[in-house]
Amino acid sequence: MDKDFLQFLFCPECRKALELEVFQEKNGRVQEGLLYCSCGALFPITGSIPRIVKDNLKLYKEFWQKYKGKIKKPALSFKEEEVSRETKLKKRTQSSFGYQWRTFYEMSCDFKENFLNYIYPIEPEFFKGKIGLDAGCGFGRHIYNAAKFGAKMVGIDYSRAIESSYQNTATLKDVHLIQGDIYQPPFAKESFDFVYSIGVLHHLPQPEMGFRSLVEYVKPKGSIFIWVYSDQRKFTLRLVEMTRKVTTRLPLGILKVICYIAAFLDYYFFIRPLAFLKKSKLLKKTGLEKLIFPRIWLYSKYPFQVNFADWFDRLSAPIRFYYNEKEISEWFTQAGLKNIKVSSTDYYGIRAYGEKA
Ligand SMILES: C[S@@+](CC[C@H](N)C(=O)[O-])C[C@H]1O[C@@H](n2cnc3c(N)ncnc32)[C@H](O)[C@@H]1O
Repeated sequence: MDKDFLQFLFCPECRKALELEVFQEKNGRVQEGLLYCSCGALFPITGSIPRIVKDNLKLYKEFWQKYKGKIKKPALSFKEEEVSRETKLKKRTQSSFGYQWRTFYEMSCDFKENFLNYIYPIEPEFFKGKIGLDAGCGFGRHIYNAAKFGAKMVGIDYSRAIESSYQNTATLKDVHLIQGDIYQPPFAKESFDFVYSIGVLHHLPQPEMGFRSLVEYVKPKGSIFIWVYSDQRKFTLRLVEMTRKVTTRLPLGILKVICYIAAFLDYYFFIRPLAFLKKSKLLKKTGLEKLIFPRIWLYSKYPFQVNFADWFDRLSAPIRFYYNEKEISEWFTQAGLKNIKVSSTDYYGIRAYGEKA
């Protein structure tokens, strides 16, 4: 964490500014340290990443053990979260994505086209000189491109996926990363020119509440854009949800093996041969081209690793909600946004853009 970044950080519980104590520093960056608030909340910085999550005492036991002699204040963390079905699901989401994005951390391609598709009609010029928040940045593929397009970027993710974002953006100066929760981001309200969240809100126990939380961090006249799953493919989604009843309960290591087999068969026996046929004139001539699903074309542009990661994502994430354009339009309208643009990305997703008054 850059020391200058401290001015952006606020206690997510009581909203006061945080103070910093440095334990280890390298090239002007805090490697290990402590963020504390006068309300008593303490948050560790480990691996140069501030860990502003409620359960940091449990998640980073080694840190507290290592520095217990140096920490003068009692380690009061947040108020304990109620043990509800919702918090249990959040915890499972945290460990599932932490595992997923530290396994599939590699930027196997540059994802630029992919990012521009998710955020259409926004163009690269939009980002220059602005400050933005990537909410749920995962392994960092989109924040990398947003920073390359010229924005100063802050990324937040609830899971240890944030460590992969850190690794994948290490060469970029203007990227700052935090392990934190969309429901309680540790920033001052109205701090960002734009906030986006791609493929994240549908994994929250209460997606619209997460969206509303993010809107509060957009500056007046700033923009918010999101991408969520579409409910268009009713039959396929029913099959997926039936399968997930079993797969979301499997140990992650076993699920990884199953997903490797599924992805291998899908990619080498289905996607690549069909994509090859699609390019050939034969399919066009016979009119069979239309029968090839858009996903074949989509995945054929990516390396195997992307298909493998998506199989894992599909079968492991504890929560998945699906939406239609009307529902997402209503989120934006009810949040008081204007210049709203909602459209579909093939059958799979819905992207939406809006501006604050
Ligand atoms: C499917 S991944 C998408 C990652 C990235 N946006 C991308 O498109 O590559 C969803 C991410 O949302 C994060 N996430 C889930 N719940 C969250 C929460 N409450 N606050 C912040 N991040 C959350 C997960 O840890 C995970 O990295």
